Amino acid sequence: METASRLQKLTPSLTLAIDSKAKALKAEGVDVINFGAGEPDFDTPDHIKAAAMGSLDAGFTKYTPSSGIPELRAAIAEKLKADNGLDYKPSQIIVNNGAKHSCFNAILAAIEPEDEVIIPAPYWLSYPEMVKIAGGVPIIVPTKAENGYKITPEEFEAAMSPKTRMIIINSPGNPTGSIYTKEELEALAEIAVSEEILILSDEIYEKLIFDGQKHFSIATISKEVYNLTFTVNGFSKPYAMTGWRLGYVAAPEWAAKAIDSLQSQTTSNPCSFAQKGALAAYKGPQDCVTQMVAEYDARRALVIGLVEKIEKLTYVRPQGAFYILLNVAKTGLTSTQFAEKLLDKQNVAVVPGIAFGDDEVVRLSYATSRENIEKGLKRIGEFVAGL
Ligand SMILES: Cc1ncc(COP(=O)(O)O)c(C=O)c1O
Repeated sequence: METASRLQKLTPSLTLAIDSKAKALKAEGVDVINFGAGEPDFDTPDHIKAAAMGSLDAGFTKYTPSSGIPELRAAIAEKLKADNGLDYKPSQIIVNNGAKHSCFNAILAAIEPEDEVIIPAPYWLSYPEMVKIAGGVPIIVPTKAENGYKITPEEFEAAMSPKTRMIIINSPGNPTGSIYTKEELEALAEIAVSEEILILSDEIYEKLIFDGQKHFSIATISKEVYNLTFTVNGFSKPYAMTGWRLGYVAAPEWAAKAIDSLQSQTTSNPCSFAQKGALAAYKGPQDCVTQMVAEYDARRALVIGLVEKIEKLTYVRPQGAFYILLNVAKTGLTSTQFAEKLLDKQNVAVVPGIAFGDDEVVRLSYATSRENIEKGLKRIGEFVAGL
């Protein structure tokens, strides 16, 4: 028996694989420093947990409308207006099982077989795989470190063909930590509008931003851009709710309707009581987010200070999310060789950039304690010095 052809070209998630390997070593008692994980190391704030527990106690344990409970969709619409200046009606917002699911639903709703989707690299590793499952063709566009790993209008135009259907913009970005400015997004949006190219704007790291940067939602640029855009966001990264599996997509009515139908025939609603937690996340105090961001910022400074001391490694200063890309080209190793040897020799787990479409870099997540960061970077320094 063979698996269906649509799944034969699928690559399993390398980040999850590295994370599992590091966790397995740890379980054996090895002193592993894990920079592989793509999730906050904080616990979900108490008031969010209390809301979910309260709803469980009250018996809120049944199916909900498949697109999410009305009060959560309304709270998301309010948030998108207040934080992002976006006008979405609750009917245009579908709550999904994580922002990963939101991206997948958007791609399935929009992509015909053979349609091309432009993905700037380094990219979040699930995008190309999602496009492939939908029968589309990922068009990977390498970006330059000197451009902050952001696609330029020229690169966008050069990658276009008559089959281009969508571009994926992820700002703040995983794995790059880059943030597109308003002007940069306007230049890309102008091209998208002129060629009627859809935009998947993955804004899941919106709140995790530093250096006084501003997050800008591309769909606010104009009615034309809005009509082409799927805005994705969620609860996992800002509120340390990765296990709760809650994200959402806000889209033009035609797309929201399609996603609603798709979800109603596949997963049905996201977890009922998790939605009550998400409601508390948006309605409750936001200082929990501010505190986590302050700690990420301090860790980012620590990482940068320590990386600076390691000869042969270069980096682009990340402005958002909780990742830093280290360029390892001067070590003479590929990203996979670097990551494998580092784990074998120094018990430090990083993700090879080959998984993100750039074999010169490795990704470190600094969603780990300052103590781990100090220990781990000391070991990386020793590893590089010993090459
Ligand atoms: C860029 C990006 N988008 C979406 C997701 C998915 O988030 P969620 O856990 O809400 O599915 C991730 C998670 O790593 C991510 O890095």
